[in-house]
Amino acid sequence: MSRTDLYALLSQMTFEEKIGQLMQYNTNLFIDTDAEITGPLTELGLPKTMLPFVGSVLNFENAAEMRAIQKAHLEQDRLKIPMLFMMDVIHGYRTIYPIPLALSGSFDPDLVEACSAMAAREAAASGVHVTFTPMVDLSRDARWGRVMEGGGEDTFLNAVMGAAQVRGFQGDSLRDPAHIAACVKHFAAYGAAEAGRDYYAVDISERLLRERYLPAYKACLEAGAPMVMASFNTLGGVPAVANDWLMNDVLRGEWGFDGVVISDYNAVEELCVHGVAADKKEAARKALSCGCDIEMCSAAYAAHLQALVEEGSLTMTQIDDAVLRVLTLKERLGLFEDPYRGACEQQEAAVCLTPAHRALARKAAEESAVLLKNNGLLPFADNVRSVALIGPFADSRDLLGAWSLRGDTSKCVTVKEGIKARLPHAAVRVVHACSNEWDHEDKSGFDEAIAAAKCADIVLLCLGEPSDYSGEGSSRASLDLPGVQLELAREVIAANPNTAVVLFGGRPLALTALDAVSPAILEMWFMGHESGHAVASLVFGDVNPSGKLAMSFPRSVGQCPLSYDRLMTGRPIPLEADGTYAKFRSNYIDCGNLPLYSFGHGLSYSRFVYEALTLDRCTMTASDTLTVSVTIYNDSDREGKEVVQLYLRDPVASVARPVQQLIAFEKITLAPHERKTVSFIVTEPMLRFVNTQNRFVSEAGDFELSAGYADHLLLTKTFTLI
Ligand code: NOJ
Repeated sequence: MSRTDLYALLSQMTFEEKIGQLMQYNTNLFIDTDAEITGPLTELGLPKTMLPFVGSVLNFENAAEMRAIQKAHLEQDRLKIPMLFMMDVIHGYRTIYPIPLALSGSFDPDLVEACSAMAAREAAASGVHVTFTPMVDLSRDARWGRVMEGGGEDTFLNAVMGAAQVRGFQGDSLRDPAHIAACVKHFAAYGAAEAGRDYYAVDISERLLRERYLPAYKACLEAGAPMVMASFNTLGGVPAVANDWLMNDVLRGEWGFDGVVISDYNAVEELCVHGVAADKKEAARKALSCGCDIEMCSAAYAAHLQALVEEGSLTMTQIDDAVLRVLTLKERLGLFEDPYRGACEQQEAAVCLTPAHRALARKAAEESAVLLKNNGLLPFADNVRSVALIGPFADSRDLLGAWSLRGDTSKCVTVKEGIKARLPHAAVRVVHACSNEWDHEDKSGFDEAIAAAKCADIVLLCLGEPSDYSGEGSSRASLDLPGVQLELAREVIAANPNTAVVLFGGRPLALTALDAVSPAILEMWFMGHESGHAVASLVFGDVNPSGKLAMSFPRSVGQCPLSYDRLMTGRPIPLEADGTYAKFRSNYIDCGNLPLYSFGHGLSYSRFVYEALTLDRCTMTASDTLTVSVTIYNDSDREGKEVVQLYLRDPVASVARPVQQLIAFEKITLAPHERKTVSFIVTEPMLRFVNTQNRFVSEAGDFELSAGYADHLLLTKTFTLI
């Protein structure tokens, strides 16, 4: 269908048909019997007569259901405009791979792209057309439960990983029925919610917003995402979906985005609850005039758009533009040619949870796990005869993490199963020992755990947070290990020092006390279906850990929000003095400023030595490129992977600059005793920041380039921009 055909189609549409394209509801309204939907429809305030016009749905079960809904819709739709089917395919569809925060720590965009392509293939076979992914909300507050869904605390890494997801989900063409469209979310700055409380207000300077928060969304649009979801939060007092400056000036205006904007769930009607619209009619007017094309799961558009046009508060052109954008997306996805695009029950059975997909999920888990601490205990020798698996995650299948809607937990490999498969002849004893719920204090399982620890060669202490402690609507005020798990750790480690902690969860926790007693800690986040196998290969050294933190682990919840790219302040504390309180300096009486484990941290069983950092020039102009080379030596007998990270510092500028800022990285493999040199090209745009006029600029002067990881910059060289 050409653009002219779309205009022709639009010209035939009645007002109701047009508004239908701007509505999205759950599929239960289309599959349930009459009696069952009356309740939800009344609650929504949606007249039943509007249902046949609805242009898109979210959340459905499988290809059979998708085909049935689409068929029924087309039978009653006079113009035969197919419905769009959308879903939250966040970190896998049927095969679940690591949560985005974990996967970001693989520092491997190709791997991220491959995982997204796998999820697209599976989801497309069920008839999904659009996924509400990637989420690139910069997250600096571990209390916020949704940190698990994003790429972490760094602007650059978020942008790289977001774009990789878009490429993976979308492939080369939206028409390809093995791929699906990406909807970047939550525009904008949803992750900066005050005090880490979900859905709460965001109030940051335009300068900071533009410099740190917006670039990742923009990178996803540049990678080709045709949809944007407006976020729930207020930004400077105005909810995103009705934020004229954000949506019209920045997104549609400056960035020229002409794709589809969708509200978040019920967010249009929530404008009334925010107190920025007196009623649903005003909410509908505000959202539509701010370029929100589709209203998700509330019914303000259905009830009021017609009256708003009739009374002149909205123009017919505004409605037509929105409808055209939706029709264009349907056309780009090839739905007018094939409304069932890719949805096929046989294909669904053939592509989902295949051995190849599981293998990729396992690789992703192995590459994303972060060895936080190791005093030499790991890797374990594989001639051990007895293993005690202790703790709430020892044999738990709660390993998929939040947002794994179609993931079947029964298909998860538990730690016990992974260890047994790896050590078929060892005696493996499992002791659950205690709960991982925050308010559970029962220690009656401790005695058995200690007894098991005492007679085992090695212990894996499997601790953490349940998966429903992170994700949407799951903020925490404490970042402690929930319940009595810390006490369990103390007693078990005292009983058997050959104890490694294997930690699960969807957010960084404050592990200061655990770190003090543990010989080794392996962060497994939520790694998906292959978690247990990945644990086994990592702790026995079949795979050398190479994941790095995409988000810092605070020492204490009181440090939040926290990120490695902090500003100096006029009264800084030198790095080496951190933790020693100094009056009239920017620090805490009772805690250091630095995190326990910084962004970019992650140990290996190899020992990497950063030998040299060289620049090919010491001055550059805006049209020059500068090559920086870092030489790394693997001073060990074990092959390993290292993420070479390049940080920038601009010591003097018109606005205060961060003490360090990631500008490039590359993950490399080094054979035992191999030495490699990695080169990065530095160009003038990489030196830019947002000035007080809210414009990206670079300023002449000295810059420092460093290799290492945040707070541990090992080698530094200076150059001058002239
Ligand atoms: C609300 C969430 O904020 C958003 O991320 C998600 O895509 C929608 N619900 C749809 O499920």
